[in-house]
Amino acid sequence: MAKRIDVGGLTAYYGSHKAIEDISMTVEPRSVTAFIGPSGCGKSTFLRTLNRMHEVTPGGRVEGKVLLDDEDLYGAGVDPVTVRRTVGMVFQRPNPFPTMSIFDNVAAGLRLNGSYRKSRLAEIVEKSLRGANLWNEVKDRLNKPGSGLSGGQQQRLCIARAIAVEPDVLLMDEPCSALDPISTLAIEDLIGELKERFTIVIVTHNMQQAARVSDRTAFFNLAAVGKPGRLIEIDETERIFSNPSVQATEDYISGRFG
Ligand SMILES: Nc1ncnc2c1ncn2[C@@H]1O[C@H](COP(=O)(O)OP(=O)(O)OP(=O)(O)O)[C@@H](O)[C@H]1O
Ligand SMILES: [Mg+2]
Repeated sequence: MAKRIDVGGLTAYYGSHKAIEDISMTVEPRSVTAFIGPSGCGKSTFLRTLNRMHEVTPGGRVEGKVLLDDEDLYGAGVDPVTVRRTVGMVFQRPNPFPTMSIFDNVAAGLRLNGSYRKSRLAEIVEKSLRGANLWNEVKDRLNKPGSGLSGGQQQRLCIARAIAVEPDVLLMDEPCSALDPISTLAIEDLIGELKERFTIVIVTHNMQQAARVSDRTAFFNLAAVGKPGRLIEIDETERIFSNPSVQATEDYISGRFG
């Protein structure tokens, strides 16, 4: 079930390096929020704080709060493994498990969660592959390795794997940057469909993509090289691309820097 994300005063470090500082924002359920901003401003770092992946990096730690509806993901007693299941992630490079079949790639997370009857597992795998608009292309080769698919198909396989466990939130870090334009459009269409069921956050360097897929856009920037990244503004996507409140946003979206 899609949930609201409420971030309050979030700062993240790599050891003594402060990568992002004092970020607060709300992400509405059943919507797409795009993160944009120049390289190194902390978009990926911030995204990984939303499902507790940041702390997997040695020296990675955070201050502040991330609420999913009313639950603080950093609260005492919260299991990060459960958080990562609730808040799914799709990466820049499609990363199917190379030795696993297409079927097993989608079933992998389900099998970790518990035991399912064979027929139930097959049902969920089909539903997830249909949900990722991949079913028709792979239904006759479910037992072939996932690594035998094209890049765009592999990325949809990773999306199927992520949605199979019915997460509340789907985080995507530049999910199309390794894809051709046709596959990119397929993923963008898919994001439009998935937002009816999930809360979606997508990082992208492609301004047209942000404008096409997202309802709201957040612009991040660095005050200077070596300084931590900050959220400059977040607003309706239409507003950000037509009449942003901050000059730096205007400069960035019109290609004057970054
Ligand atoms: N594993 C890491 N260890 C140490 N520092 C890191 C690590 N990953 C990122 N950083 C630093 O954190 C800051 C933010 O990096 P991050 O990758 O989040 O930026 P980004 O906005 O996603 O950039 P890009 O658009 O290039 O993907 C940078 O200064 C980067 O060097
Ligand atoms: Mg990044």
